[in-house]
Amino acid sequence: MKKKVWCAVFAVLAAGILAGTRLAWSRGKEEMQQEKTAIRLGILLYRGDDTFISNVRQALEEQAKLYEQETGIKVVLNIEDAKENQITQNSQLERLISLGYDALCVNIVDRSMASAMIDDAMAADVPIVFFNREPVEEDLRLWEKLYYVGADAKESAVLQGNIVAELYQKDPAKVDRNGDGKVNYVLLEGETSHQDSLIRTEWSIQTLMEGGVPLEKLTGGIANWERSQASAMMEQWLEQFPGQIELVISNNDDMALGAIDAMERLEIPDPINVVGIDGTPQGVQALERGMLLGTVQSDRAEYAHAIFTIAAALALDEDPKKDIQLVDEKYYWTHQTILVQ
Ligand code: BGC
Repeated sequence: MKKKVWCAVFAVLAAGILAGTRLAWSRGKEEMQQEKTAIRLGILLYRGDDTFISNVRQALEEQAKLYEQETGIKVVLNIEDAKENQITQNSQLERLISLGYDALCVNIVDRSMASAMIDDAMAADVPIVFFNREPVEEDLRLWEKLYYVGADAKESAVLQGNIVAELYQKDPAKVDRNGDGKVNYVLLEGETSHQDSLIRTEWSIQTLMEGGVPLEKLTGGIANWERSQASAMMEQWLEQFPGQIELVISNNDDMALGAIDAMERLEIPDPINVVGIDGTPQGVQALERGMLLGTVQSDRAEYAHAIFTIAAALALDEDPKKDIQLVDEKYYWTHQTILVQ
């Protein structure tokens, strides 16, 4: 009997000690969480030498510094370049996960391949903020810790179309330069698989037509967002259609700059109207030189601020919505403005 009583007393004591230890552990964890003095973020870029992306990267580094100054929390940024290879990017993601990174910001190479990355991230409980190259909504809905930051492609295109439509309405001769009642244009498109290329092309043309510009397409091509590819294409078109091109519509600033390079190389006397999208510093310079008619700028600092703020909140196990307003709980669309000569 005595033995049984002692056993019971011992069992109660043991349970108490165990519960106490668990409580202390969980308190310890909470305190650790509260006192987190550093966060580690992985930034995965589809191509480091893409002008727009390298500008965003720079802005992200500035955001990290600002955040450190404001919060006293140290930020470790690990930036990886996939050089347009999805397999490389998958292994970069796996490595950063295995190194215990707190959150990842992913500029995915192939937007149709997001689910494999998401599976890995979910298994390790590492949140992802995708940016600029948008996974399909179905993939983003696979987990609550997935977000997207970007510039709305339709909005960029409508603004781009309006630059030319408004000029035409004010002074048709500035757009229909030979006064034949048609505006002969060439079109430079980004990668076919990128959501921005298809949507920008469609809405830019539609806005111009709705704005009463009598468009006539001479030709067009896919220059994959790249200045050098666009430059080679434009050089060929200038030779193929001498004196006929009145307008160059480009899906981004870098390809617009390529078209301008070709015009300068061939010493075209009266610069043709060229419109771009992005408002990169290089694009703005061309605008100031009078070579680019206009562009649509997405605010780089805001872009990077949104990516960083969401990622930092997730890294601290906090809800990003407390710091930033999201659309449908997952999306942040940056503001865009027209820049004209
Ligand atoms: C930008 C391009 C950039 C591409 C990369 C687009 O949104 O306008 O300049 O090359 O994204 O993904």
